[in-house]
Amino acid sequence: MAAPLSTMKFWKPGAEAPGITEERELNTETTGSPIIFNPHTALSIEKQRQKLPVFKHRNNILYLVESFQTVIIVGETGCGKTTQLPQYLLEAGWATEGKVIGVTQPRRVAAISVANRVAEERGALVGHEVGYTIRFDDCSDPQATRIKFLTDGMLVREMMADPLLKKYSVLMLDEAHERTLYTDIAIGLLKKIQKKRRDLRVIVASATLDAKKFHDFFNLNESGDPNKDTCGILTVEGRTFPVDVFYTVSPVPDYVKATVETVLKIHETEEDGDVLAFLTGQEEVEKVVSLLQDQARSLSRIGMKKHLRILPMYSGLPYADQMKVFERTPPTVRKVVVATNIAETSITINGVVFVIDCAFVKLRAYNPSTAIESLVVTPISKASASQRAGRAGRNRPGKCFRLYTEEDFEKLPASTVPEMQRTNLAPVILQLKALGIDNVLRFSFLSPPPAQTMVQALELLLRSRSKHLQAKVSLHMMQNFNQLCVLAGLDHYGRLTDPMGVRMAEFPLSPMFAKMLLESGTFGCSKEIVTIAAMMQIQNTFVLPANQKKAAAREHRKFAVAEGDHLTMLNVTRRAPSGVQEHFLNYKGLLRAVTVREQLRRLMNKFKVPRTSSEGDPDVILKCIVLGFFSNAARIHHSGSYRTLRDDRELHIHPSSVLYGEKPPKWSGGFSMKCCRRQKYYMRDVTAVESSWFGRVGPHFYKQAKHGSLASKRSRVL
Ligand code: CDP
Ligand code: MG
Repeated sequence: MAAPLSTMKFWKPGAEAPGITEERELNTETTGSPIIFNPHTALSIEKQRQKLPVFKHRNNILYLVESFQTVIIVGETGCGKTTQLPQYLLEAGWATEGKVIGVTQPRRVAAISVANRVAEERGALVGHEVGYTIRFDDCSDPQATRIKFLTDGMLVREMMADPLLKKYSVLMLDEAHERTLYTDIAIGLLKKIQKKRRDLRVIVASATLDAKKFHDFFNLNESGDPNKDTCGILTVEGRTFPVDVFYTVSPVPDYVKATVETVLKIHETEEDGDVLAFLTGQEEVEKVVSLLQDQARSLSRIGMKKHLRILPMYSGLPYADQMKVFERTPPTVRKVVVATNIAETSITINGVVFVIDCAFVKLRAYNPSTAIESLVVTPISKASASQRAGRAGRNRPGKCFRLYTEEDFEKLPASTVPEMQRTNLAPVILQLKALGIDNVLRFSFLSPPPAQTMVQALELLLRSRSKHLQAKVSLHMMQNFNQLCVLAGLDHYGRLTDPMGVRMAEFPLSPMFAKMLLESGTFGCSKEIVTIAAMMQIQNTFVLPANQKKAAAREHRKFAVAEGDHLTMLNVTRRAPSGVQEHFLNYKGLLRAVTVREQLRRLMNKFKVPRTSSEGDPDVILKCIVLGFFSNAARIHHSGSYRTLRDDRELHIHPSSVLYGEKPPKWSGGFSMKCCRRQKYYMRDVTAVESSWFGRVGPHFYKQAKHGSLASKRSRVL
């Protein structure tokens, strides 16, 4: 069957106004003259470096870094900020006497890929002069590494051991426009450090940034004399290659379908060049990948010379598979990378010439009045749209096809709401407290979070036995479950408790996980809990190949237990690594869980958490999970769905849970994630619990349910 001819119609904004412009086909002329890429005549790395727009500004940049404590650098995507600036600083001597140049990235994959690129440009292997550090993976050498790429979360973590970040001479906050939670925290903390360390240089780099806002924030000059400013701004003009932007002629009803059609149209009508398509989540990515794979097979059957290689890219994908998108393809193959937002910033996928942008992104949202955190599909910002388009012009002129009209583009917000203003702040507060910021309400935030979110997070962390709090609790007990949600990380003065709060803050996981892990030794199940916590860090324990769904589901049922997903995960680890294929388990995910478990074990040893085992008793493990995750408890409603205890919010069991479609337990808890799809809230990683267990972690405020123990219905696979 031949591929259907696409019905997608695009136009390129130009001299003529929309509406009177003729619809143009995809291979409209580009503004720049077409350059045919020939790898044999490609420039040497050194020559490539010199051709980048930032190269002309090299001396200027170095002068600014010498003269100002903070420098804000705004330059089009692809101009060389991420890969070149750290090298200029290194060459200019900013990393002598054991000092390190640190560059933060909002995403792990970006940190790895840019570290690899910079190491390659310096003719070395990553992990020596150039290295990276991300959570659960350190590829740097404390003695040898001079340029270190790290996630912004890791930088905040490093401040715990080294509050003044003494080993760094320069810190570059890259892609600052993304305003991730940890970028914003790092920004606030660095400003504080700069007041004590006049020698520390901060560079804020981005393609699309409100430079003035950053300037006013970082400028420590209070004299009013602009000559004494401590912050400078530099704009780098020019980009490496032009990118032509096309819009659809009319709004697109289904962007998933439109993405598939646009890829096919590009393949039919455009010259060489790989394609990068942006969608919102794993499900959409997999759907497009599978539709395109079907089409690719039909195309090769009808004898099309150029083949399509379709590759997914999303954060839940094992690293090795994520890295596949960077592999070069032979000239007879056109690579199509179908990605979520993960590919939006920092990374260069070689060969990408065409970008398809669906206009949407899945973002974390937090509703402080209900305390529910969810992932919501939202229109992107203009800043994101320009980042996405920028992925096309990295190695040669590119084209970006926006699956929306130019009119709709104009309606997009200029920038994304900072994550700080749409997230649960409990982990942030704990870390700030651990860093000695006592009054978190007065912390210098670039964009302060809503007061209600802040107060709620403080409540979650307060110590239950405080008389002061108990008085407060009895007052509101019947109305507000939140106040009972106490992890005992803070005392009634709001100070970090020692040792619990201090240790919780040191864990590279949320306070709920930390609490569960730290208490597991005395509970008598630390061996099992550390495995469960590690398994919860991988997104999918099971794989469901499209053509073997039934067989896979049958295999997966063998691990399932009535208690729910956590004990099912534990069962899986008992079987692995043998039988991974036979049981359709996520092999790479399991390997990652093993590494994570090792790191968690090390921390638990450091805090002298006893190594204990439940010896086959599931209740001990489940109670320990409740100890950390009690604030997520829900009870069954007569409608068949669940209601949260704290605010009576309707929840459903996620289809990926082993409890989905089974006789539902009366109480559920422990779930670590709620995601919102089509206005519904789902529980993932669900465990059946008993209401009486909640008494262990806070005062009873509801009657104990009269149902008997679930134990009689349990399958004891353990
Ligand atoms: O950070 P910015 O967007 O300004 O650019 P960059 O990441 O430093 O990349 C500068 C240039 O290096 C890109 O335009 C690419 O031409 C090249 N590059 C590459 O070819 N392969 C990579 N993995 C990274 C960069
Ligand atoms: Mg960059």
